[in-house]
Amino acid sequence: MKSETIELLSSRELDKMRTAGRLAAELLCYLEPLVKPGVSTLELNDEAERWTKAQGAKSAPLGYKGFPKSICTSINEVVCHGIPNAKQILQDGDIINIDVTPIVDGYYGDTSKTFFVGTPSPLAKKLVEVTHECLKRGIAEVKPDARIGDIGAAIQEYAEAQGFSVVRNFVGHGVHRVFHTAPEIPHYGKRGTGKRMRAGMVFTIEPMINEGTWEVDVLEDGWTAVTQDRKLSAQFEHTVTVTADGVEILTLPGRG
Ligand code: MF3
Ligand code: CO
Ligand code: CO
Repeated sequence: MKSETIELLSSRELDKMRTAGRLAAELLCYLEPLVKPGVSTLELNDEAERWTKAQGAKSAPLGYKGFPKSICTSINEVVCHGIPNAKQILQDGDIINIDVTPIVDGYYGDTSKTFFVGTPSPLAKKLVEVTHECLKRGIAEVKPDARIGDIGAAIQEYAEAQGFSVVRNFVGHGVHRVFHTAPEIPHYGKRGTGKRMRAGMVFTIEPMINEGTWEVDVLEDGWTAVTQDRKLSAQFEHTVTVTADGVEILTLPGRG
C-alpha cells in the first residue's frame, strides 16, 4: 500500500465519488431507525443489502478478502470488522458502529457511525461524543500543503486529553475505484510529518477510540477486532477530498 502512488482525481471522478458517498451516507440514515433493542445484526445487514441493491449499487464488503457479509457491525468492545450474525441481538445500552461501503459506477463511498441502542451509560456517551469530535478535528486539518501526520496528531491530542486511547492497528486509507489504497491515514502521530496533501486526493478518516488500552486482538473468525481489555471502542468515518482551499466531505446525505 505504501509504495502505491496517491491518485489525484479529476472533477469527473470526484462527481462519481460524490454520488457514491451520498448513497453511503443515505444508507446509514436508512439503517438508523432500525437500531433498536431486539434487532439482530443480521437483520441490519440484510436490510442494508436489500436497500443497496434497490439503488442499483453493490456492497463492497461482501466477498472482500473473504468477508462474508455486506456491512460491518461492531458492538461495544468490538473495534471494527464485526460480522453480522442472526444470534447477535442488540441490547439496551449497547453502542454499535455500522460501517457501509456501496460501490456506484465503480466508485466506493466509505462511511461509518456509532449508534446508541436505547439509553447509553454516561461513559459510553462520552466515548462516542469524543470519537465524533476526533473525526471532526481530523477533517479540520485537511487542506492543500498540510501534512497527513497533522490529521492523526489532532485526533490523538484530543482523544488522549479526554482520557481515551487511539487504535494503531487500523488506519484510514485512500479510496476511489479501489477500496483500500494509498495514502494510509494514521489516527495518531506528529504534526509536520507525512506526505503533503494535494487537491484531488481522496481518503477516509476513521478514528477508532478506546476507553482503555489501544491494543486489539482479532478473534478466530479472522475479522472481528476487539479491545485487548474488552473495554469499549467507538468509531466514526467519512470519505473526504482535498479541495483547492480546504476539504469536502463526500459522505454526507443529500439535501431535501
Ligand atoms: N469499511 C471498512 C473500512 O472503513 C472496511 C471493511 S473491510 C471488510 O475500511 F471486509 F471488513 F468489509
Ligand atoms: Co468503512
Ligand atoms: Co474505510
